[in-house]
Amino acid sequence: MVSRVAVLSDIHGMLAPLDRVLAEPAVRDADLIVVTGDSTWGPQPVQVLDRLTQLGDRAVLVRGNVDREMLQIARGIITGLPDAALSVWGASQLSAEQLELLQEMPEQVTIDIDGFGPVFFCHATPRTDEEVVLVDSAPQRWAQVFSGLPTDVATVVCGHTHMPFVRLVDRRLVVNPGSVGLPYGRAGAHWAVLEDGAVTLRRTLLDPDALLRETTAGSGYPRITEWLDDYVRHPASDLEALATFRPREEL
Ligand SMILES: [Fe+2]
Repeated sequence: MVSRVAVLSDIHGMLAPLDRVLAEPAVRDADLIVVTGDSTWGPQPVQVLDRLTQLGDRAVLVRGNVDREMLQIARGIITGLPDAALSVWGASQLSAEQLELLQEMPEQVTIDIDGFGPVFFCHATPRTDEEVVLVDSAPQRWAQVFSGLPTDVATVVCGHTHMPFVRLVDRRLVVNPGSVGLPYGRAGAHWAVLEDGAVTLRRTLLDPDALLRETTAGSGYPRITEWLDDYVRHPASDLEALATFRPREEL
């Protein structure tokens, strides 16, 4: 049984925010760090995976859709990712050991946590690594995506949509920690802590100039300036992200 779990999600190859979050006392002192996917597809995927691997047994890494897609591209499978240039570059950077790591990474884990019982961690939903479910999705939609969950699971933690929330869904608590690297709606690196039966949504404030400077200097991606401009300097608001995701929410 573990007592304090820090959850980090959707780091997206952003090493600087990851390092700031790992230095937070609540993360440093956590019994376990669970990373709910999408660690890659970003400017420093190699360094981010190295950093997470260095955590050893303190970290449990779950695979997200972009991690799977990086692996598929590296293996020569066409995925149709929207930003092909960064995907192709990222896949070419990963070492054989890192591809193996992604290959072996689970898509879901269940961990017993004091005050919670079994907690189910996944990237998007328990059924797939890419379907969309939103904070205001209808009860029928939640029932659909949770249909295969064991009845004793009363807490579900998932990422994928880069917007933090905690809500109840038919007696289950659903937690999305938001995104460490590419948040929508509010700046900073977003994460969560599960402790004593309570969930705390946390945010690490970042100096935007330092973030851009360090990421530009640390990345070998040839179009890094343009990419940072699109994804970090001018991120989508939560309303824009919800509007984009909404059509992908199926009933
Ligand atoms: Fe993501």
